[in-house]
Amino acid sequence: MNRLISPSLLSADFGNLEHDIELINNSDADWLHLDVMDGVFVPNISFGFPVIKYVNKLCRKPLDVHLMIVDPDKFVNEVRDNGAAIMNVHYEACTHLHRTIQNIHNAGMKAGVTLNPHTPVEVLRDIVGDLDLVLLMSVNPGFGGQKFIEHTYDKLVRLRKLVDESGSKALIQIDGGVNAENAPELFNLGADCLVAGNAVFKGGEIINNIKSIKGL
Ligand code: DX5
Ligand code: ZN
Repeated sequence: MNRLISPSLLSADFGNLEHDIELINNSDADWLHLDVMDGVFVPNISFGFPVIKYVNKLCRKPLDVHLMIVDPDKFVNEVRDNGAAIMNVHYEACTHLHRTIQNIHNAGMKAGVTLNPHTPVEVLRDIVGDLDLVLLMSVNPGFGGQKFIEHTYDKLVRLRKLVDESGSKALIQIDGGVNAENAPELFNLGADCLVAGNAVFKGGEIINNIKSIKGL
């Protein structure tokens, strides 16, 4: 059983990223989650390759890049060249998802697929064996600091079953509204990795916040 944490940089202090990333380096965080938004797939724009490249220079944790963009296929090589260990694309943004996953693997990265809150986990039945990561959005993507959608628990149980029955090695990740209160239940129901933005960076001490979400 995994209990991984991937803090979401979106909630960090962009006026002093170096400071926050150094704290992440010295914390129990396992990965660093980078949210790329294009203003088309989601109603917000975040950051792109120059920022990822800079973060990669400073960060000693693997970069988990969550692309909330249309047509992510176009950027597979740039995502790799700027330092991503995991390239995570939205199911809803990929018409030829199998091809996209192959392209990500051929580029030498781990491949993840994200499902929006309305997308049933069962759509992954015929691709889950090829995946390294499945991310369930527990808020509608686009913003940090939103309220956790309770129906995610039900999806998590169904996804855990789907992954286990298929023999897939995919890790299950949850993103949106995660905090120290709901983390134990998410881990108990079979989540392997929790993304947390506000709960890590807004209020309190970053290193302690990560410990409490992880249950340490
Ligand atoms: C939302 C992003 C999340 C976000 C999570 O679209 O995918 O990664 O940063 O932020 P919190 O943990 O504050 O909900
Ligand atoms: Zn995210």
